[in-house]
This record gives sequence, structure tokens and C-alpha cells, in this order.
Amino acid sequence: MTGTMRYACLRCGASYSADIAIDSRGCPACAGSAPANLMVVNDGGAAACAIQDDSLPSLWRYAFHLPCPAESAVSLGEGLTPLMPAPAIGAQLGVPRLFIKNEACNPTWSHKDRFSTMAVSFAKASGASVVATASSGNAGASLAAYAARAGLNCIVATFSGAAGPMLAQIRKYGATLVPFAHKEDRWRFIAEGVERFGWFATSPCHAPVVGSHPVGIAGYKTLAYEIVEQLNGAAPDWCALPVCYGDALIGLWQGFEDLFHRGEITSLPRLIAAEVHGSLAAALAGESDRIPDMTARFKPLAGSIGATRSTYQALKALRQSRGVAVPVGNDGLIELQEEFARKEGVLAELSSVTPLVAIADLRRRNVIGASDRVVVIATGSGLKDFDRSTAPDGEEPSFPSVRDAWNYLARGGARQAFKAFG
Ligand SMILES: Cc1ncc(COP(=O)(O)O)c(C=O)c1O
Ligand SMILES: [Zn+2]
Repeated sequence: MTGTMRYACLRCGASYSADIAIDSRGCPACAGSAPANLMVVNDGGAAACAIQDDSLPSLWRYAFHLPCPAESAVSLGEGLTPLMPAPAIGAQLGVPRLFIKNEACNPTWSHKDRFSTMAVSFAKASGASVVATASSGNAGASLAAYAARAGLNCIVATFSGAAGPMLAQIRKYGATLVPFAHKEDRWRFIAEGVERFGWFATSPCHAPVVGSHPVGIAGYKTLAYEIVEQLNGAAPDWCALPVCYGDALIGLWQGFEDLFHRGEITSLPRLIAAEVHGSLAAALAGESDRIPDMTARFKPLAGSIGATRSTYQALKALRQSRGVAVPVGNDGLIELQEEFARKEGVLAELSSVTPLVAIADLRRRNVIGASDRVVVIATGSGLKDFDRSTAPDGEEPSFPSVRDAWNYLARGGARQAFKAFG
């Protein structure tokens, strides 16, 4: 960051010094009315182009606009993920100009690495020795990896029901996994760790949730910087992503706003939040700054975005971008995941498939136009929740001879068998 850093409230604009310890209750002035997160503000920072150093093989090439200097980066080579046209699945959804930003190409296979590289770099530079998060999976796995890289201890408080492959991943990085039967107990545990032992908490640990640490959120701005570069200097018409607390949503929006204010793009995209239980859709339908806590009517397959209440920061990004929130259920999600994999070669986590459902819905209602350029942020890898998206291992056929294999294909034994014969 080239200017001077401070924090400001996303809702009331109150300003706070960069020296304060971030409390996960967010802005003290808003706490009693409509709780809201703080954001990083850069006063008098670089007005020019987003890239600081083209040669850095990670999102740290944008360090001019990030709250940590590149010299103190704890990096695993995150960011700079591919943006690919996806014409086949696009045609199916009625949006031929569809692009996929494949965040599974990050070091821990999800977009959370953009957050963790910033948060851990900042925590280390601030002298922390323990970083902690209450996470359902991807955030914990990512924080565990960056803590390992930084030589810091990492505590991940999870709840029963988190996806197995992600829990295994967290353990492999050497983090201490602390599972709780009740989600809320994770927060109390982390809050006590902060109070008693000075842990650096990257996630929320108080209800109602306002979002995660603002320094980590600033890392998500790089999504917008990359997308605009990859579209040769243009912003898309729409940008869709799965949303839980909206950290990525507000970071992405602020990245596009940065570019707009610097004159690097001439239009801003509208944002699409694919959610599960519908708290953002309900909030958008009213005037209030409060996000309702919804009743969970089913157990979501998209577990990574399964919270019943989103945040003010997400609502703000949607309102400012004239965006839309679309609640997405379980029906057809696994089938769409498999179609996406078969048609485009991208195996996305179930939560990362939800924006495709949202886009199909918005296109049907003509909210998205047939020639609009739409970017989907596929936030995580399909390997992360295989225990939810695949049936338990059945008997795989094993052929005693080559002839038996040909007979099997000829009988149409495999779904794609006919392709074997050209
Ligand atoms: C794969 C994936 N996508 C999207 C999200 C939603 O992130 P956010 O809380 O920033 O809205 C998560 C959060 O855990 C996630 O793991
Ligand atoms: Zn405030």
C-alpha cells in the first residue's frame, strides 16, 4: 500500500486508526443498530494502474493496493487463476458469453487463499504467534496452509457435519482441529482464545456475524483486478459467485470500484449472489440494513455457504452494484456439477455450482440478457466435498479380458460407451 492505512465502517463511515485490534463485532458505532464490518481504507495511495510488479508470480503483484507490503508477504503463489470462456455450459444456461474464473487453481484449491495470504502476512507482521478461525472447511484449510508457511500455530474450530476431505486437509497442514457439536460454541471458543491468549482471529467469532478480518477481505480485490486484465481492460456485465458472509463479494466489489475510480474501467458489473437460505434476497426486498436470520428448511449440499444469515457487507455490495441474490436449493445440483465437469473440464465444489443455477434462473426471467458477458467465480474444487457429491464406492467392473471390456462397451454398460466407437 503506498498511502496511509486506516479502517472505516462500511455502513456509517466512522473512521478508526490502523492500530486498533479488529473485534469481530465490527464497527462499535453500528453495533447496537445494524452491525457492520470495517474495511481497509488507503488515503493518498497509488492513483495509477493496479499492478506494482509484473514479475511477481502471485496476487502480490498488486501490492500497491493491498494492506501489506510485498516484502512481508507469506505467499504460496496464490491468485492469477485462469479465466476461461465456457461456451458449452454457457449455451446450456442461455448465456453464450459465459466465463469461468477457476479459483480451484489456488494453492489450497479455493479462493480463500486470497484472504489467507493477506491475513497471515498481516498477523505475522503484527507479532501474532497463533492464528485462529471458526470454519466449515475451506477457510480453515487455507489458513492452516498459510500458518504452516509462516511458522505460526493455527487453531481451526469446526462443527460436526463439515466435509471430510477439508477436515483431512486441515490436519495434514498441522493445524489443531477443534470440533464442536454446536456451531455457536466455535465462536465462544475463539473469542475466549482472543481474550485470554491474544490469538489473531481471522473469522467472525460473535453473533450476529459482520464478516471476516478486513485485511483478509482486501485480498479479494485482486479477483476484480485479474478479471479486468483478463478481459483486456473491460468489466463484465455480471459477476456471479456463491455467497455466505459475503467477504469475497464485498472485496470483489471494492476491487471493481478501485478500477472505476482510477479510470481503468468505464462501467461496473452487476453482482449475483448465489445463496442457500435466502437472507440476502429477503433483505434486498426491503429497505432495512438488517439481515434476517432465516429458518433452515433443508440440509444444503452446498455446505460451504450454508449459513442462515448473511451480512451487511454483502447487502451493501449487492445494493451498490444493482445486484441480485438468488436462493439455490439441492435439486439438480450434483447433476449440474457433473455436466459442468463433462462439458468444460472444470470440477467445482457443489457450492461453486450454485451460481450456474442462479444464472439460468436470471436468464429465464430475462434479467440477464442473451448477449451479456457473465463471469462465474468457481470458488472451490470438487475434490473438497466428494463425500457429499458421490455415492459411496460401489463395485467397479474389472474385466478378466480385453474381449469382456469390448463386450461391456458394446452393451452400453458405461454411460459414455458409444463414444468409444467414435
Ligand atoms: C467454496 C466456497 N465458496 C464460497 C464461500 C462463501 O464465502 P464468503 O463467506 O466470502 O461469502 C465459501 C465460504 O466458506 C466457500 O468455502
Ligand atoms: Zn458504523
